[in-house]
Amino acid sequence: MAKTILLLSSIVVVFLGYKLKTVLEPPPLPPPLEEIWWGPGNPGSVKPVVKPFTINVSDKVLKDLQWRLENHRPLTPPLEGIQQQYGMNTKLLKEVIDFWKSKYDWRQREKFLNKFPQFTINIQGLDIHYIHVKPKVQNGIRVLPLLLLHGWPGSLREFYDILPILTTPQEGRDFVFEVIAAHIPGYGFSKPAVRPGLGAAQIAQVFKNMMKELGFKKFYAQGGDFGSIILQHLSVLYPESVLGFHSNMCIVATPLSYLKTFLSSFYPSFSWWYVRPEHYDRVFPAKEHFYKKLRETGYLHLQATKPDTIGAGINDSPVGLAAYILEKFVSGTNFTWQQRQDGGLKEFFSYTDLLDNIMLYWVTESATTSFRLYSETFNIAHMGLGITRQPVPVPTACARFKYDFYAADGMLTETYPNLVHLSDYDGGHFAAMQLPEVLGKDIYTAVEIMEKNAKK
Ligand SMILES: *[C@@H]1O[C@H](CO)[C@@H](O)[C@H](O)[C@H]1NC(C)=O
Ligand SMILES: *[C@@H]1O[C@H](CO)[C@@H](O)[C@H](O)[C@H]1NC(C)=O
Repeated sequence: MAKTILLLSSIVVVFLGYKLKTVLEPPPLPPPLEEIWWGPGNPGSVKPVVKPFTINVSDKVLKDLQWRLENHRPLTPPLEGIQQQYGMNTKLLKEVIDFWKSKYDWRQREKFLNKFPQFTINIQGLDIHYIHVKPKVQNGIRVLPLLLLHGWPGSLREFYDILPILTTPQEGRDFVFEVIAAHIPGYGFSKPAVRPGLGAAQIAQVFKNMMKELGFKKFYAQGGDFGSIILQHLSVLYPESVLGFHSNMCIVATPLSYLKTFLSSFYPSFSWWYVRPEHYDRVFPAKEHFYKKLRETGYLHLQATKPDTIGAGINDSPVGLAAYILEKFVSGTNFTWQQRQDGGLKEFFSYTDLLDNIMLYWVTESATTSFRLYSETFNIAHMGLGITRQPVPVPTACARFKYDFYAADGMLTETYPNLVHLSDYDGGHFAAMQLPEVLGKDIYTAVEIMEKNAKK
């Protein structure tokens, strides 16, 4: 009897062990992605030709905006004693709207936004809008290509202060960057897909093809938010194109990381080997962090499931658009500022900076198409590709900012086995815009390590 039980339980243990192993291991890589023509017209009907681009919005669009800003309905006052806890505080919103209406000068901002050379190129049917800055090079300084991608609710506006840093030789460095900073399809002046299926993996293919068309077979890649997600996909699917990947939003979404999180939520001491002691408060109490995530990610569920519904409202109302986007700039920059009526918005940004970003959604009418990125990425078919479960094979650097999504050291190495540089900073989700010097320096430091390793 005892022998039978022992035998049976051994079989069960071996079986469970085997099951666990197959669940925890990365799935096989998917077959190469089909090259889909995402734009209107027949495949191949538009050639990938580089065309200069200048932002020049019609008077009609600006007049219409002014009318909407002057004729919006009265804003619902916040509840007593409430600042940003229920979402965007409408007293603060009113201040921004008044500024937008009477002080914000788009024609002048257009000049500012046009200060870097911009182009479009048609890739797989989509006109992609990008900034291309070549550095002025001195002798002995190497020029390395770098692709920069923004996320949601960001835009190329996030990069205006970091671009000069990345493209100007820095003291003590023997290299500098030639930067291509692009709007994701469906964002700003990059055209949206006309058919379903353009998720992070497919966008990675579009950008790989774009860089190749521009003459860059290999390049460095940097991004935060969805830019980071897209570049992570690019690094897994086309590692031969990526010299190195720098992210200011490294995330880990493997079954093993979920198992660790689950176990340590019951037994926090279980995490001693993968969470730095000084970061315990970013993970524990687990319940608090779980509820915080739930409270802050409602937009994600909405955009991942019904982007066109929420888009109908947001794309029609500048007030709604501003509220929806600015809420993210408050919580994403310093979460504790949800308790301030001014949301701390002006601690790091000016209303002008923030409105530039909002305008890039408004004048291009891209709210809905920007939301769809979530639906096209967080669905069963796209998740089924299993890219986020793959280890990223290229040299990687993670800059962790305090108020951004957090992944513990011992989780990062699951997804980024080739992590060559990890740093922590006091800052938020929109790091390129909030702390351009800090992020810029971190990119240089990381790439220097990657370049040295490549020479070995
Ligand atoms: C913008 O377009 C208008 C009308 O087509 C034109 O007169 C103006 O010169 C353009 N401005 C820029 C900066 O290209
Ligand atoms: C975030 O805000 C708190 C006050 O609410 C302040 O003590 C802290 O220094 C801020 N952190 C950053 C990185 O801005």
